Amino acid sequence: MSHVFPRHTKASLPTASHGEGCYLYDTNGKQYFDGSGGAAVSCLGHGDPEIIEAVQKQLSYLAFAHTGFFTSEPAEQLAELLAKHAPGDLDRVYFVSGGSEATEAALKLARQYHVENNEPQRKHIIARRQSYHGNTLGVLAAGGNQWRRQQFSPLLIDVNHIAPCYEYAEKRDDENSYDYGQRVAQELEDEILQLGPDTVIAFIAEPIVGATLGAVPPVDGYFKRIREICDKYGVILILDEVMCGMGRTGPMFACETEGIIPDILCIAKGLGAGYQPIGAMICSSKLYQTIKDGSGYFQHGHTYIGHPVACAAGLAVVNAILEKGLLPRVEQMGNLLRSELQSSLAQHPNVGDIRGRGLFAGIELVADRERKTPFESSCGVASKLKSSAFEHGLICYPMPGTRDGKSGDHVLLAPPFITSATQVGEVVEKLTLAVNEVCG
Ligand SMILES: Cc1ncc(COP(=O)(O)O)c(C=O)c1O
Repeated sequence: MSHVFPRHTKASLPTASHGEGCYLYDTNGKQYFDGSGGAAVSCLGHGDPEIIEAVQKQLSYLAFAHTGFFTSEPAEQLAELLAKHAPGDLDRVYFVSGGSEATEAALKLARQYHVENNEPQRKHIIARRQSYHGNTLGVLAAGGNQWRRQQFSPLLIDVNHIAPCYEYAEKRDDENSYDYGQRVAQELEDEILQLGPDTVIAFIAEPIVGATLGAVPPVDGYFKRIREICDKYGVILILDEVMCGMGRTGPMFACETEGIIPDILCIAKGLGAGYQPIGAMICSSKLYQTIKDGSGYFQHGHTYIGHPVACAAGLAVVNAILEKGLLPRVEQMGNLLRSELQSSLAQHPNVGDIRGRGLFAGIELVADRERKTPFESSCGVASKLKSSAFEHGLICYPMPGTRDGKSGDHVLLAPPFITSATQVGEVVEKLTLAVNEVCG
């Protein structure tokens, strides 16, 4: 009998034994293509000898030194590398152990910045519906997914939610993409004015919405307008690139495509690529300087922040992404993935939309293509798709609740950056089998 408290107590899972390249294997010898990197984590695939060596080497020198007493070489080097590649004046890196810790730290830094900037009256956070920023209470409150929030709602801080930028389902027929983006971005200004222009701490959003919408990129001009509004009212812009950052969409950071620079950028997943748990919050020099010139102390911290082994893994991962030319490869393989998905699935009567950027692709499944009507949630399309694909040896990331936290289904693909053209074909073939099996 197992004593592990699993995610699902009624599911019986195979035991993973090892990984190699884009594949994971279970103890029965079954092979699985890791088409979603778990949840957009394993960007370098499995068993990468260089990352393993970097981790082992660091362990042999220094496994742990508390950041209350020491800094460490891997933390210094990784921070320098990230600051060098991050856009604009994002140049101070606060290391944590995962995505929720990164977004949680960002919300607290944003609040402390205003307090130290003599604006303690700023108390509101604005986020978007159908977003996900993590599962700890602070960021669960920021997230806009009803299903994830519901039973914990008595414990959640008040966060105001505006519309996402979700063109496929929410653009009106009488407007073009650009106008749609401007309309939904305007909701931010309206909300700020409603709450009181000098009472808002921050706006948090995923540049490309991952888990809750299925790789939905913004329309042109949306984030430029968001940046303008934040600047106008002194609202801190936090971009959550926990899933879509670290090269997943082509450039190192997804916001580069939007041509904007946030005040705080959150990363995780692909930063450690699964070799170590690590996340980070990168903030602008303006925010950092305010804390430095003020209290000199960000009132936050966890035991494992800046963990030397995690930072050594992150350093090796970022170097591999840069030195092996993986960013252009993400773009090239991403284009191939979407074009093969189009050829194989675009005509399927239950495929409503195929979207994404780089090696971050989403497919929305619908009951009626013409009307874009989602399946009834009782059909359990997402969970059936996950089982069917897994049966066929494909790990992908389907989720229900795409439209409103309840109805709607999508599947997310986030294969390793080392995926070959032949393997793109394998992913599409296996996913098509699963879609046909579940939707008929
Ligand atoms: C955009 C986004 N933010 C935050 C998180 C939370 O990250 P973690 O699960 O590492 O705490 C996730 C996880 O899926 C995510 O996709």
